[in-house]
Amino acid sequence: MSNKLNNRQTKRYEVLIIGGGAAGLTLALNLPPHMKVAVITKDRETEGSTYYAQGGISAVLRSSDSFESHIEDTMNAGGGLCDLQAATFTVENGPQAISWLSDLGVPFTTDKHKDGKKSWHLTREGGHSHRRVIHAADATGQALETTLINHVKHSDNIDLLDHHIAVDLITGKKLGLDHNRCIGAYVLDKNNMHVETYQAKNVVLASGGASKVYLYTSNPDGSTGDGIAMATRAGCRVANMEFMQFHPTCLYHPKAKSFLLTEALRGEGGHLLLPDGTRFMHKFDERGELAPRDIVARAIDHEMKRLGVDCLYLDISHKSAAFIRSHFPTIYAKCKEFGIDLTKEPAPVVPAAHYTCGGVMTDLHGQTDIENLYAIGETAFTGLHGANRMASNSLLECLVFARAAAQHITENENTKCKWDSIEAWDESRVTNSDEEVVVSHNWDELRRFMWDYVGIVRTDKRLQRAKRRVDLLLLEIEEYYGNFRVTADLLELRNLAVVADLIIRSAMQRKESRGLHYTLDYLQMDDEAENTVLTP
Ligand code: FAD
Ligand code: SIN
Repeated sequence: MSNKLNNRQTKRYEVLIIGGGAAGLTLALNLPPHMKVAVITKDRETEGSTYYAQGGISAVLRSSDSFESHIEDTMNAGGGLCDLQAATFTVENGPQAISWLSDLGVPFTTDKHKDGKKSWHLTREGGHSHRRVIHAADATGQALETTLINHVKHSDNIDLLDHHIAVDLITGKKLGLDHNRCIGAYVLDKNNMHVETYQAKNVVLASGGASKVYLYTSNPDGSTGDGIAMATRAGCRVANMEFMQFHPTCLYHPKAKSFLLTEALRGEGGHLLLPDGTRFMHKFDERGELAPRDIVARAIDHEMKRLGVDCLYLDISHKSAAFIRSHFPTIYAKCKEFGIDLTKEPAPVVPAAHYTCGGVMTDLHGQTDIENLYAIGETAFTGLHGANRMASNSLLECLVFARAAAQHITENENTKCKWDSIEAWDESRVTNSDEEVVVSHNWDELRRFMWDYVGIVRTDKRLQRAKRRVDLLLLEIEEYYGNFRVTADLLELRNLAVVADLIIRSAMQRKESRGLHYTLDYLQMDDEAENTVLTP
């Protein structure tokens, strides 16, 4: 392929959004109809963490609740590291974001009162001092994602392109131009395996988190931190990557692939049990099963290791069968498939990697260090989550920051630059791989050592072991990437290795235990709370 500008393969948009989850779709739908927008998703259009979200979205929706209380709970869960400005901004913009969703037709669960009136049913989750989690039964994400996709499909200005995976960002610096604006991205069309050039006046990373870096995760396969890795390669700062959140309760079953059992089960009265049927959470925190997630996951990990068992148990069978079936229909049915009847018996559970609290640093408009490049949703680090995200604050952050970024893009439309010339993707020096096994082997190796050495409990020694291994993998992968034609598996592996390196380096820098970063070598929490910022 020639190395010259290739107009046939260059697609031009006002806004290129990499990712079609809650964040990307919300941004697309909040742009004015005259802007030409592309939303690309690397798998089928609905696939991403959003689709699997269960518990719901937190927001202050009752007069008995208050912004102050939501902010305080968020800050408390975040281990002293949340940014007050980001928390205030998110919480105060929550109610408008929820009414926007309700207007779009997201079918949130309601309660019917004696006088015939309806109100939203709000559930509770760990760390929240009020009922403030709005939900669509136990499949909130599915309701949200399908509603948003449906609206995007009816928007004439938005092209939704599935099975398109972004390879890397294109910046002025990369092309040797006299500016360092982001001007597009190279994108592999998985349908024909061609890398195409997408040129855009604004590029938005909305590509989700990186929990797939661990062997066991609640996330879908695509959570490989692509946006974080692309931004890092392009020169953006990332922060707080050591704070990887483990969800305490994924179903433990050989065929369940870490199916999540929502925290709302505990919010509605579910108990965590040892194998002998006793409750144990009050030994670890006075809030018991509703302590923030870092504390509950660590307690489960501790008890499993102390007793030498493969799982603990989550029990809600003391509630009525009708209540369980109506509030948790998806989970009830899924457990039934595996021979577990939640109305009669406890379900076996283990923790699994769930959420990336760190990410690409942004301001309150989602703007990154690079002009015209935005990051929103789980890819971003806004300062909201601190050292541990509070349950159901993630979807809220996706919505609020996507809407803020859309507003910023719209307001700055006229100041944007002209189209630059971009070189087409150069494949002239690569061949088809003759050793795909390298890719699959390295995927497995990486995820296993991250689980064993950089998991819920860390030590200096384990982190050093992980660092030596990731250094070697980074070299091997870069060599492979330079010689062979790209595939989706190779691109994801390359990104996973970058993200693993960021997590390990951040964890090595933090010489204290705080929130989700718990190390046996530094059990104390420092008086001063500081973010871990990595500069490329
Ligand atoms: P995602 O929804 O993950 O979407 C990422 C998108 O980016 C996808 O479209 C993907 O195809 C695309 N993409 C990725 N890389 C590329 C690439 N290189 N090129 C092109 N496209 C790419 N949070 C809550 O607040 N409440 C909950 O109840 C809740 N429950 C959860 C339950 C589960 C099982 C999981 C896994 C998470 C849950 N979370 C919950 C977390 C929350 O769902 C996610 O943080 C949130 O959905 C992330 O949204 P997003 O738009 O940032 O990314
Ligand atoms: C859950 O439903 O337990 C997940 C909620 C979240 O990750 O915020």
